[in-house]
Amino acid sequence: MKSARFLMCPPDYYGIEYEINPWMSRKRAADHDLAVKQWNDLHRALTSLPGLTVELMEPVKGLPDIVFTANAGLVVGDLFISSRFRHPERQGETRYYEEWFADHGYRIERLPDDLQFEGAGDLLRAGGAWFGGYYFRTDPQAHASVSDILGEEILPLRLVDERFYHLDTCFCPIGDSAIYYPGAFDEYALRVLRERFADAIEVAPEEAEQFACNAVVVGNWVILNSVSPKLCKALSDRGYTCHPVELSEFIKSGGSAKCLTLALS
Ligand code: ARG
Repeated sequence: MKSARFLMCPPDYYGIEYEINPWMSRKRAADHDLAVKQWNDLHRALTSLPGLTVELMEPVKGLPDIVFTANAGLVVGDLFISSRFRHPERQGETRYYEEWFADHGYRIERLPDDLQFEGAGDLLRAGGAWFGGYYFRTDPQAHASVSDILGEEILPLRLVDERFYHLDTCFCPIGDSAIYYPGAFDEYALRVLRERFADAIEVAPEEAEQFACNAVVVGNWVILNSVSPKLCKALSDRGYTCHPVELSEFIKSGGSAKCLTLALS
């Protein structure tokens, strides 16, 4: 397996302190000790894979969602395109992510102030093309701006179900194909996905609700919230091995395995 590197941020100050998506309710607190255990299990599952390194950044008090490093920005080679968070509750994270990337030798690009962009949560590369989720957290104009920076085309996909507000909650590149939840996309986006990925794995609503699409794929390993045996069977038929990790406390915030990691190159 070729080497892979991810960025994670420990959940010291993680919690449900505000409500910015339908999963979050201040009345349904995360169990802190259990969240720490689940995060450690995910960290261990990743670091136990050969050739895989996980970099850590310091958690920050008062920024409970900084654990979701997928939203820091987009990383391509030594370029870091910093996110512009839609919700003020998360905007404070930006300077800490930028600091980390600057300290680690990345070039930092910022999008114009009036755009909203939530990084690798909404922009994924699959089968040799970029796919950009938009509407709830990222503007289509932000994808146009990122496309100019990268000099590469981004295929925009309109998200329509507020429970699947980031692309990585309903779409996961795997090999040259993808796992996705059709109910999260508008008709045009679905047509694009079906044309591009004729052999994709389409998950059922109850699997999507367990964050089946929010998986970390490394080589032949698929690390994801403990989900349906049906999906694991579909994956194993294609030569992948499911590695389930229970992530219930993060689902209370609308995130799971993929959201808790950011692939570095
Ligand atoms: N509570 C966070 C939010 O609403 C969860 C972020 C999940 N991240 C992701 N990449 N889907 O912003």
